[in-house]
Amino acid sequence: MSPKADAWVELDRYLEMTAASRSLWKAAQSYLPGGDTRSSIFWKPYPIYIERGEGSHVYDVDGTARLDFIGCMTTSVFGNAYPPVVQAIQKQAERGIAYNAPNRYQIMLAKFLCERVPSVDMVRFTNSGTEATLNAIRAARAFTGRTKLAKCEGGYHGTHDAVSVSVRTDPAKAGPDDRPSAVGSVEGLPPETLENVVVLPFNDTEASRRLLEESAGELAAVIVEPVLGSSGMVPAQWEYLRMLRDLTKWHGIVLIFDEVISFRVARGGVQELYDIIPDMTTFGKVIGGGFPVGAFGGSKEIMELFDPLHGPAVVHAGTFNGNPLTMLAGGITLEHLTPEVYERLEEMTNALREGIRDVCLELEVPVRVTGLGSLFGLHFVDKPVLTWRDVAKGDDERRNQVFWGLMNEGIMLAPSLVGAVSAAMTENEIEAFTEALRRVLSRG
Ligand SMILES: Cc1ncc(COP(=O)(O)O)c(C=O)c1O
Repeated sequence: MSPKADAWVELDRYLEMTAASRSLWKAAQSYLPGGDTRSSIFWKPYPIYIERGEGSHVYDVDGTARLDFIGCMTTSVFGNAYPPVVQAIQKQAERGIAYNAPNRYQIMLAKFLCERVPSVDMVRFTNSGTEATLNAIRAARAFTGRTKLAKCEGGYHGTHDAVSVSVRTDPAKAGPDDRPSAVGSVEGLPPETLENVVVLPFNDTEASRRLLEESAGELAAVIVEPVLGSSGMVPAQWEYLRMLRDLTKWHGIVLIFDEVISFRVARGGVQELYDIIPDMTTFGKVIGGGFPVGAFGGSKEIMELFDPLHGPAVVHAGTFNGNPLTMLAGGITLEHLTPEVYERLEEMTNALREGIRDVCLELEVPVRVTGLGSLFGLHFVDKPVLTWRDVAKGDDERRNQVFWGLMNEGIMLAPSLVGAVSAAMTENEIEAFTEALRRVLSRG
């Protein structure tokens, strides 16, 4: 059969298995547009509704258990309901959930980040990655006195205006490969938003250098994901980040690494792994141990803009910033993320990447498997995947077939087929994934 027909077969089975989710989704639509409140986790025909998670599994409202190979978009590095975090949070909740003054746990988490991440002398906490990138970009503007921002095509940095440009664009409508045009990713952006963004082709070192040099005097910041995360888990090439570092330093532009996803690759993030140190770094996901979080940090010189004793030049408020539950959960998570854990995660994910390639080779399905550390992405293409445009060339029917098929087989990924291996997993879960993929691809 064709991938399209195979996808329909999987869809029929998905509909059979998810009746309770379907009925919740229908009920939700009366109150929530689209039946949910987070655009990034909608998939057709409707998402499953989850009842609970434990370790490597999530359980939906129809009672189906699935291996959780996405963990709240790469957040749950120790799996679901990690007991040390749950127990500590229960105790802390009895002592109060949020106060109108600082708490001791934020020092613990800040210290971990400052000690581990080479670019971070000082840090501030937010409640989301979106707020983290918003404040980092604002700091860069205040620090340089310039306005423009450069970002990569395919780069996702949250939902605020400045970065809602050229995320998952249709390449046919976004200009030449080596000079992508700035395309709004949502409606409702003021026209000056697009005028203030220079879009770079990710991993194209020479074209990006040229584009940056054209606007260098106006650029406050360059923001880049060291691993293009939600757009496919595509690692930046070392040379690409090196060029960004050298060029921004030369022109006095603030280089921001958005490590909201990529921080889980190594103790000090990808910047430590590649030994390329930006001026600022943004965080989210794993650093909150499963609770809503974000953080931005950088050199003392830049971060002092936020110091109330010095003005401050940039006010950064937020009712729940640094709340004790998030700080405690994040602190425990980072404490438990030892070098041995990273090593094991990487070994398991390498085995997974290899297993996926082997199954696809055996069944003659063209695939490219991307990722770094515990992050991975599947792309049904027959050429290397280095850019967003390479990702966009993937076979959509095959992707749907595999997404629904894996869901039917008890494996949960993001609909774009990106995922993350958690420390709650063992070699058994890795084997279960590759065997499930083999069954899905053999059904056609
Ligand atoms: C690299 C990156 N930056 C920023 C964000 C925004 O984080 P949040 O969803 O917490 O606002 C995300 C979210 O997926 C992300 O992947």
